[in-house]
Amino acid sequence: MPLKNILVCTNIFILICFFPTQTLAHEPLKTYIIQLHPESMPGLIFASKLHWHLSFLETIVNDPDARLLYSYRSAMEGFSAQLSEPEIELIRKMKHVVAIRLDRVHKLHTTYSYKFLGLSPNAEGGAWVKSGFGRGSIIGVLDTGVWPESPSFDDQDMPRVPKKWRGVCQQGENFNSSNCNKKLIGARFFSKGHRIASVSPTENEMSEYLSPRDSHGHGTHTASTAAGSTVAMASVLGNGAGEARGMAPGAHIAIYKVCWFSGCYSSDILAGMDAAIRDGVDVLSLSLGGFPIPLYDDSIAIGSYRAMEHKISVICAAGNNGPIENSVANVAPWVTTVGASTLDRRFPAVVRIGNGKILYGESMFPGNFHHDIEKQLEIVYLSGGERGSNYCFKGSLPRKKVQGKMVVCDRGINGRAEKGQIVKESGGAAMILANTEINMEEDSIDAHVLPATLIGYSEAVQLKSYINSTMRPTGRIIFGGTVIGNSRGPSVAQFSSRGPSFMDPVIPKPDMIAPGVNIVAAWPQNLGPSALPEDSRRVNFTVMSGTSMSCPHVGGLTALIRSAHPKWSPAAIKSALMTTADITDHYGKPIIDGNKRAGILAMGAGQVNPEKAIEPGLIYDITPNEYIIHLCTLGYTKSEIFIITHRNVSCHDLMSKNRGFGLNYPSISVIFKPGMSSKMIKRRVTNVGEPKSVYVVKVVAPEGVKVRVRPRKLSFSRSNQSLSYRVWFILRKSAGSKRSTFAEGQLTWMNFKDNKIKIRSPVLVTTHN
Ligand SMILES: *[C@@H]1O[C@H](CO)[C@@H](O)[C@H](O)[C@H]1NC(C)=O
Ligand SMILES: *[C@@H]1O[C@H](CO)[C@@H](O)[C@H](O)[C@H]1NC(C)=O
Ligand SMILES: *[C@@H]1O[C@H](CO)[C@@H](O)[C@H](O)[C@H]1NC(C)=O
Ligand SMILES: *[C@@H]1O[C@H](CO)[C@@H](O)[C@H](O)[C@H]1NC(C)=O
Ligand SMILES: *[C@@H]1O[C@H](CO)[C@@H](O)[C@H](O)[C@H]1NC(C)=O
Repeated sequence: MPLKNILVCTNIFILICFFPTQTLAHEPLKTYIIQLHPESMPGLIFASKLHWHLSFLETIVNDPDARLLYSYRSAMEGFSAQLSEPEIELIRKMKHVVAIRLDRVHKLHTTYSYKFLGLSPNAEGGAWVKSGFGRGSIIGVLDTGVWPESPSFDDQDMPRVPKKWRGVCQQGENFNSSNCNKKLIGARFFSKGHRIASVSPTENEMSEYLSPRDSHGHGTHTASTAAGSTVAMASVLGNGAGEARGMAPGAHIAIYKVCWFSGCYSSDILAGMDAAIRDGVDVLSLSLGGFPIPLYDDSIAIGSYRAMEHKISVICAAGNNGPIENSVANVAPWVTTVGASTLDRRFPAVVRIGNGKILYGESMFPGNFHHDIEKQLEIVYLSGGERGSNYCFKGSLPRKKVQGKMVVCDRGINGRAEKGQIVKESGGAAMILANTEINMEEDSIDAHVLPATLIGYSEAVQLKSYINSTMRPTGRIIFGGTVIGNSRGPSVAQFSSRGPSFMDPVIPKPDMIAPGVNIVAAWPQNLGPSALPEDSRRVNFTVMSGTSMSCPHVGGLTALIRSAHPKWSPAAIKSALMTTADITDHYGKPIIDGNKRAGILAMGAGQVNPEKAIEPGLIYDITPNEYIIHLCTLGYTKSEIFIITHRNVSCHDLMSKNRGFGLNYPSISVIFKPGMSSKMIKRRVTNVGEPKSVYVVKVVAPEGVKVRVRPRKLSFSRSNQSLSYRVWFILRKSAGSKRSTFAEGQLTWMNFKDNKIKIRSPVLVTTHN
């Protein structure tokens, strides 16, 4: 989902966002997040945490209240404030200050999918029935807000608001408590970090609601994907018609608006997490992120550690920077990191070109209603110019060259739907959006404002050579509606960010993949389906693609498992989702990634399978203490570990007890440094199935590696019993001359009686030469 960084400030904003930034010293102010030692507040002196936090500012500035953005106490101990560099140096020297971070901007990672995942409302013993459709669980969505009138947030058939809920429905522009109901049980907005960053209103100023109401669409889409109510006859202008519902249609939704047109600021995100922890959410879904950074510098990782300690599952998008290696973000081991996969649903819109050839494309334009396109049009591709006319930039398409024609636009740089708008404004009659090598055959489609289709890279090459071969190239788009099941799915989306993670290579990330391409979900009723300001069409649903869309799928499924197993920890739920994930597609063939077999660095444990995850048999659980040992193995210092965990630990003592056997993670990654030839790890599984059950191990060894497991059989005599096993990895030979190589395998525990229960861990062996 390409979110443009439009700087926006409404008239209301200008008043608030400029005046406090005036300072006597004329030093520029910046927003800092100041983390404090949690137990050091002198209780007798300060009436509250807020007073204590303000006391740090009182000694150095005249206007402490104006400088303070937020006072945090649940997601982190500390506050955010606007300070100059000399002032922050004074703060740095103060007692109890643990860390100081500059505010950071994050981006958004931008119906039918529940059926694709095998969920059915009628299946006895199915995941929906077993979990009561996610009944009782509360999913907090940190995003761009919500459009509460969407039929997806109707609360008919919803149970009462859970007693533990302490959230609010915050009043604001066009939003008040009457907008919340039993489905949408809470909504808050956090704009202080954003307001300060939005320095100047731009030319084409777009206003944003200063309230939980969604001005952008992204948050409405993600929230309804996680837990939208059932809506009969949902469609995007007639495409993809069917019954729409979220992954956990029985769960409640709480909205935390932390993203604005200028982006999502850490100070606002932390404030959202801080409130969500106290409000009582069970799951947090964050379809946003930045570039990979160390965990102790990452406010999302720090806030989610606290959330995890409160038994809240945190689900994050892996990012849209694939297929580049090492691009995966949100990699903390206590977070569930989700990559994107395709569905098997297609919206064919082929192009018949003048030489009779048919080029396959896809589109969500309502072709049936448009007759213009019945005729053959002249095709024009303006390449080679300096103004980026091959990308169809604004002002790059001369009217006399494109009037009435079918314009070819290369994908990339500006938005896909925006290109369509520019072609239309310039007088073009239709558009062919052509993938480049970057996108290959990946087909993220849009509800374009003119007849348009998107073609893959190999088709684009054919089209361009045809254009070159003739004086007057022509073509015609033939729209084919919605086709389900006729193609291979799931496969890994090209844009889905890939591992290994720079920050923590011992944990293979992403953890799993979920549908994220061409997802139909709820949309604000005052926005056009293409999300362009010029689009005057009105819809209740639209199509979007991105790991932003995958993340709330897993958010909803996490709520389902939590409703079925309320006592499970976030690690246990994640284990259930990972160890039961599919590595084959709906044809029983290996899931593919472009033109090759998908590996663990693209799809993690595989495609989520909720019907299996609801009864996983065994789980790999992790206690908060075990994460600390893991941070020690990353070589983090005592103070870096303190920043994340708020705990003063001795890695030396902890490590000598654990002897580096590794985190009890559901996937396995072993790294051989130069000169090493063998390594042993330990894992512990807990029986959550039949009290008396027996499992045997089956290993597919990575190439060039010998794998030994002891014991090879685990006999459980009661439920909730934990048993351990060890795995030895022995390198057979040097991995050759390359600097580092990856080899993959798997380790599966098979239930002796019920061979449907298989607990699979993907194995990644990395050898550095
Ligand atoms: C909330 O807003 C609606 C519509 O603007 C209005 O009718 C209603 O009176 C408001 N309710 C409250 C409690 O302010
Ligand atoms: C089309 O022709 C131009 C110039 O003759 C050349 O630069 C370009 O590579 C050709 N493109 C294709 C796709 O054949
Ligand atoms: C959107 O939903 C509302 C409420 O259910 C309905 O009245 C309206 O007709 C729908 N709009 C479209 C374009 O389907
Ligand atoms: C951590 O503990 C040591 C001694 O056990 C103490 O000297 C140090 O001040 C503590 N640090 C923090 C940040 O609490
Ligand atoms: C399972 O056992 C652990 C300790 O081994 C205990 O803390 C936990 O409460 C038990 N869970 C259940 C559901 O009995």
